Order: sequence, then structure tokens, then C-alpha cells
Amino acid sequence: MSLVSLAPITEAARKANYAVGAFNPVDYASMKAIIRAAEEEDAPVIVQTSAKTVRYHGYEALVVWVRELAERSPVPVAFHLDHGKELEMIQHCIAAGWTSVMIDASHLSFEENLAMSRKVTTMAESAGVGVEAELGKIGGVEEEIVVAEEEAHLADPGKAEIFCRELNLGVFAPAIGTAHGVYRGEPKIAFDLIEEIYRRTGTPLALHGGTGLSDETIQRCIKLGCAKVNISTNLKHLFIGGFADYHRENPQDYEPLKVLAAQFECMKNLVREKIRQFGASGKGRALETSLCAL
Ligand code: 13P
Repeated sequence: MSLVSLAPITEAARKANYAVGAFNPVDYASMKAIIRAAEEEDAPVIVQTSAKTVRYHGYEALVVWVRELAERSPVPVAFHLDHGKELEMIQHCIAAGWTSVMIDASHLSFEENLAMSRKVTTMAESAGVGVEAELGKIGGVEEEIVVAEEEAHLADPGKAEIFCRELNLGVFAPAIGTAHGVYRGEPKIAFDLIEEIYRRTGTPLALHGGTGLSDETIQRCIKLGCAKVNISTNLKHLFIGGFADYHRENPQDYEPLKVLAAQFECMKNLVREKIRQFGASGKGRALETSLCAL
């Protein structure tokens, strides 16, 4: 099937109490590992590219890869821009074939964030592209975006309600205590805030900073309203670790395809494990059929 937009899959996930995994590939192999894992788990999936990855590979290559992998796939795949900060890049992604984009204007004031996010929803709507927007400030390191602990702050539920009422979002990313990268110590998740924000907005929520969260935390967040869980750091570590471990264990083996196969398996297994953890296994083909019928 061709690539799908964000809202139909996050809404379906919310209704059935699971979350769609959103994974950040860094090249063709990691993208293929994500989509193959989703197929093996029979799950919908979101392939999301960081701005850095877009700049590295260019728009065209990424779209050609994802289309080649998703169009022959029996499960729904959304192609999403993660943490888009520049309107120009977002516009290029929409024109090039991304089916979903995130506008991250969380560094601006509430009014400016709302105005910039509105520009993106207007741009995206006419192209049938889904939108994710952020409120509050999620801490940690996500590629070039570095938010220090003292700078991070949680989303305000009253503002969240206005933000979501004003914007037609496929998914909403309020800061609720998670952080990008590796956690130092136990993360303090504001579960009550997730519940209140979901109750007041009715918009499926995105859980950023998925690497390092326990099964229990993730399941609780899903129950309270999260329908998209982001995993990047975990996958990056396995991209490097899968390659390095194979070489350490087989120091005389200089057959690159064997090393790549080992790295691929590591990444695919991680994605499968996460999809199961998010409760999305077994939902893919049925959802694909219902989307085709629309
Ligand atoms: P991690 O890097 O913690 O997995 O978070 C990913 C993320 O939220 C991308 O936006």
C-alpha cells in the first residue's frame, strides 16, 4: 500500500489502546529493518527522519527508499519528519512525499508556537499530510536539538487545550517529563498531566524519549492517551553495536555483507520487541484493509 498519513493510524491505536512505534532510521538498511520488523509483527509503523538525516541523504533518496519498502508492504507505514524546526524543510518534505510532519516550535512563546504550528497545519492539510506539534519543552539531546535539564519544562494543560482546539493535529507532543537520549536516573513522568491533557484535548499523544522507559511506564502512558512512542537512541546504539559486536566476535571475517546482516538482525529484533511492548502486534493487516476501504 502507498504510505499513509498520521491521523488514521494514531486514532485507530488510541481506540484499541495500543501505540504505534515511531522509529528513526539513519540509512536504507535501518529503514528496511524497521519496516520488515513491522511486517513480521503485523503492525502499523511510523518511519521518522530527523532533520539531520534529511540533510545527510537528501529528500529524494529517502522518499525513494521508503516508497520502495512500503508500497510492497502489507502493513500501514507513515513517513514522518521528526522535530521539524524550519518551515522551508517542512515544505520540502510535504512536496517530496512525506505523509506526516512534526513542527517543533517549542522554543518560541506560546503565541508564536501556535502561529507557526498553524502555518504548518494549513500547508499540510491541503496535501493530506498529518501534523504533530510540541508544547512545553522536552529535555535531552535529539540530534542537533539540545535542551538542558533546567531549560526543559512541562506542558501547561490549559494551554494544551487551546493549542489542540486551534490546530487539527494527527498527534500532539506535550512535554510530560520524558527526555531524549539516555536517562540519568529514573525519569519523573507526570502521569496525571498525561491524563489531564488527553482528557482536555482528546488528541492522541506522542511519547518522546522512548529509549530507556520501562515496560510498565510505557504501558501506563498508552493507557492514559499516548498513541505514538518514539525510539531513536536505542536504534542508534544497535546500529553501531550490531556492527562492532560482530567484528569483535569474528575478528578475521572481512565479509561486509555478513557484518551488515548481523547489524540488520539486531535492529530488526529491537523494533519487533518495541512493537510488542507497545501492544501493536497483529494490528497491521486489518488496519491496512480498513484504510484501503475508505
Ligand atoms: P530517544 O532518542 O530517547 O529514543 O527519543 C526519540 C525521540 O523522541 C525522537 O523525537
